Amino acid sequence: MVKYKTVLTAKQIKKRVKEIGKQISKDYEGKEPVIICMLKGAVYFFADLTKNISIPIKIDFARLSSYRNGTTSGVMEIISNITSNIENKDIIIVEDIVDSGKTLAYFIKLMKEKNPSSIRICAFLDKKERREVDIKVDYVGFDIPCGFVIGYGMDYAEKFRELPYLAEIINPEELDK
Ligand code: IMP
Ligand code: MG
Repeated sequence: MVKYKTVLTAKQIKKRVKEIGKQISKDYEGKEPVIICMLKGAVYFFADLTKNISIPIKIDFARLSSYRNGTTSGVMEIISNITSNIENKDIIIVEDIVDSGKTLAYFIKLMKEKNPSSIRICAFLDKKERREVDIKVDYVGFDIPCGFVIGYGMDYAEKFRELPYLAEIINPEELDK
């Protein structure tokens, strides 16, 4: 059985998300960015974040699959793309967690083909030590070490997304069994 412990409480998350919302509102003053939610993992972060942004925005959604059923990633494919026209628009891509960086690298390439005027990345969590491709995260909720985390949108084999806090799996040897 998978066991886990809380690493960030709902209260800590709420406070930090509010700060990022404020920062984005300041940085994009006078603009109307298109904020893109990377499904499914970023869904709660995205919902909380956008409610804390005080400038006009547009929202959109994209879903990539890497045929990941446990903790290892595989081939990348777009399952559902954004529908907005982002040509000459400022876009902010919102991710749950940047690990190797491969998911974002793939998505950024797709978005660049649509000629937005700027692209920034906002990630709830950054696992910097695990980076394999060079990705600059402009807004980071929290830097975390290498463990496997669940909750606040993040899953293990589609489970635990609904936890209102972030937890770390303490017996990772149970994963992928
Ligand atoms: P990357 O392509 O290696 O950067 O992987 C990023 C994606 O892997 C994230 O969007 C998550 O869906 C997933 N992921 C990476 N680390 C974790 C974790 O600790 N818990 C849950 N999902 C994770
Ligand atoms: Mg994800």
